[in-house]
Amino acid sequence: MVRRIFPLLIAMACAQAALAQQASAQQRDPAPGRRIAERDCAACHEVRPGETGPSPRPSAPPFQLVARMPSTTELSLRVFLRTSHAGMPNLQFSESEMDDLVAYLMSLSPPDK
Ligand code: HEC
Repeated sequence: MVRRIFPLLIAMACAQAALAQQASAQQRDPAPGRRIAERDCAACHEVRPGETGPSPRPSAPPFQLVARMPSTTELSLRVFLRTSHAGMPNLQFSESEMDDLVAYLMSLSPPDK
């Protein structure tokens, strides 16, 4: 009996760990990511919703708009930020800076998205 249940328990624990990881960006404190964004992105993007008016560079979408786009996900942001984008210097982020940035951007999206 115990032998049959054991693998099942392990499978459940793994599934739970995967779920917890998926939820991580939503639970992360957005403040550190906002600081990075203000340092590295504010020259072109509106970083905080409504605070600075339109993006300093009109072709760069405000982050709130980016967050609201249906195509924006944690994964799409990570991929995008690892690839160079038009008119943007190639910024290198550590894993944890990347997590912070993505958490901040995702925190701007409506909860029902
Ligand atoms: C020198 C100007 C500049 C800087 C600095 C800059 N961006 Fe951008 N960004 C742009 C422009 C212009 C676009 C629109 C063109 C494009 O999508 O390539 C854009 C688009 C984006 C998009 C939208 C992608 C999409 O799916 O449409 C994201 C996300 C983004 N930037 C994130 C960032 C982040 C995060 C930073 C700071 C770490 C940053 N950008 C810094 C100019 C900049």
